[in-house]
Amino acid sequence: MDHNKNKHDYRDMIAGVNEKIPIANGKLTTAINFDNAATTPPFKVVLDAITDFSRHYSSIHRGTGYKSIFSSKVYEDSRKIVCDFIHCDHRKNTVIYVKNTTEAINKLSSIISNIYDDCVIISTRMEHHSNDLPWRNKFRVDYIDVDALGKLNISDLENKLKKYNGKVKLVCVTGASNVTGYKNPIYKIASLCHNYNAKILVDGAQLVPHYPIYMKSSHKDRCIDFLAFSAHKMYAPFGTGVLVGPKDFFSFAEPDHVGGGTIDIVTDDFVTWADPPDKNEAGTPNLMGVIALTTAIKTLNHLDMRKIDKKEMDIYYYALEQLKKIPGITIYCDTDNCDKVAILPFNIDGVYHEFTAKKLSEISGIAVRSGCFCAHPYIRRLLKIPAEEMEYYQKNRDINRPGMVRLSFSFYNTYEEVDALVKTLKKIIKHKSSFQ
Ligand code: ALA
Repeated sequence: MDHNKNKHDYRDMIAGVNEKIPIANGKLTTAINFDNAATTPPFKVVLDAITDFSRHYSSIHRGTGYKSIFSSKVYEDSRKIVCDFIHCDHRKNTVIYVKNTTEAINKLSSIISNIYDDCVIISTRMEHHSNDLPWRNKFRVDYIDVDALGKLNISDLENKLKKYNGKVKLVCVTGASNVTGYKNPIYKIASLCHNYNAKILVDGAQLVPHYPIYMKSSHKDRCIDFLAFSAHKMYAPFGTGVLVGPKDFFSFAEPDHVGGGTIDIVTDDFVTWADPPDKNEAGTPNLMGVIALTTAIKTLNHLDMRKIDKKEMDIYYYALEQLKKIPGITIYCDTDNCDKVAILPFNIDGVYHEFTAKKLSEISGIAVRSGCFCAHPYIRRLLKIPAEEMEYYQKNRDINRPGMVRLSFSFYNTYEEVDALVKTLKKIIKHKSSFQ
């Protein structure tokens, strides 16, 4: 296989991939980023687009000058670009810009809490805290459990939908796990939800940058009702996230944040809201963030999401095969072929996760994330820690907490970078007693 095919094209597109950084021996080395699930570096075209647009930047929806009208048009036209990317019907859905996925989910949970007094929300034990806590603090929440490998137990969902007998209004599920990378069967879950008159929210933070998503389906029951994702995980880190959902729903519901831009008319005594998405975007919109997002979307479309997935999974399987061969490494996801994005969680046996991460950086300039990745309930299950033991960590804040090391790949990563990782891991294992 020609491992180097397209290598330079891909790397040339990303800011900072060849940046030299200092390591522990005092030398400089080229930074390696295997922490793309946390955030991605920007596309160079995104930086260019922002600089270029600065000439036209002006107030959106609030000015009569040429630049203001132009900025407003670019901002409004962007919603169709987003809709096309996620394959949703722009006539039926509305694209609401927020800061990031976390804000999108908080927004939706607040809006729904203003509608229903007594309903059940179903989340899962696989979720990032951002798709768990915003529901926990407002609703009665039940969770779909995971199996021994950390995969969702779909029959548990059906049992719960039956059990609550029409009370479940929303099922909130991640499109792909930020810990194991497992992709959930979101279209099948959507169909189950709709059979029981519940809607589905997909947390797309880890899916949308890596794999095509289809909110609209020729089978109506398989459509995704709500989707949230972040631009900073798709090479456009300029403070924009997206919440998409039915226009009818947002038209009917009270907005969560109110203020400038959200109204049709305000009198001394009453307020009439604007139509969505305006009523859901209080304050001056982040146009530069939206320019960044749409430029990233056009670039991802040009690269082709299927090809991106293929390249990332090739790198993933290459790394997986290498790690499997190293004695003393435990991998925390299904190591057979399975439907996932390119995320690989592991530990070196007997080495604290944070120490492994630190050494990877100090020895070879390799960036990873370690810990619990804002998914404590999921990590506890993957590490098979009894629930009671968590109290001990709660009470003893100063002791080492359980966790893992996470590799998360992007299409711009290379096989040589994986080789450098493997070499460094072997070094850490060889010298682990002297390091500690
Ligand atoms: N949710 C991001 C991660 O998993 C920040 O790293």
